[in-house]
Amino acid sequence: MTTGLELLEASPVMPVVVVEDVADAVPVASALLAGGIGVIELTLRTPVALAAIERVAAEVPDILIGAGTVTTPGQAKQAADAGARFLVTPGTTDGVLDACFDTGLPFLPGAGTVSEAMRLAERGLQALKFFPAEASGGVDYLKSIAGPLPSLKFCPTGGITVASAPKYLALPNVGCIGGSWLTPKDAVVAKDFARIEQLAAEAARLR
Ligand code: 3PG
Repeated sequence: MTTGLELLEASPVMPVVVVEDVADAVPVASALLAGGIGVIELTLRTPVALAAIERVAAEVPDILIGAGTVTTPGQAKQAADAGARFLVTPGTTDGVLDACFDTGLPFLPGAGTVSEAMRLAERGLQALKFFPAEASGGVDYLKSIAGPLPSLKFCPTGGITVASAPKYLALPNVGCIGGSWLTPKDAVVAKDFARIEQLAAEAARLR
């Protein structure tokens, strides 16, 4: 895995995961993998996120572990040092972009407008996260920009459900979609990893 475009092919759904208890990281990753999802975007939204990435990288080597919600240049380096194999950002500043490039990892930089997407294309990036997808215009927006921006492919994320997923996945400029519905908070807190496996299996069948 060396490019963002390859990252978009890793799975129909990029599970966006929040881990509050570091002990949940490995069972959640294992449940996703058992359900047929071979990638995980572990978000840097909790104090244990970097430790969680480290554990998954060490103990579930068959899942492609990435860090999401990278919002500062420092986080890009920290995530890479923890063992993340790719990075995802919700939006993109020049500093975050430079730091992502510096890691040498593939990454999906966030864009929510045509101008943001064009700025990233100018830097040689063709695979972008479209965020927040539903709130920014969803499927209709992505259809509208496919004409003027034919070289770009997206991972729309934000407000997508298993029900709305097929419409996104049918678009030629969508490589995969992101979503947190595979790892609902109540299931993680209840350590209901069987449910996560079931949701992953359902998501894996989307493509
Ligand atoms: C993200 O960080 O990508 C989003 O919070 C995920 O969006 P969702 O919770 O609406 O799937």
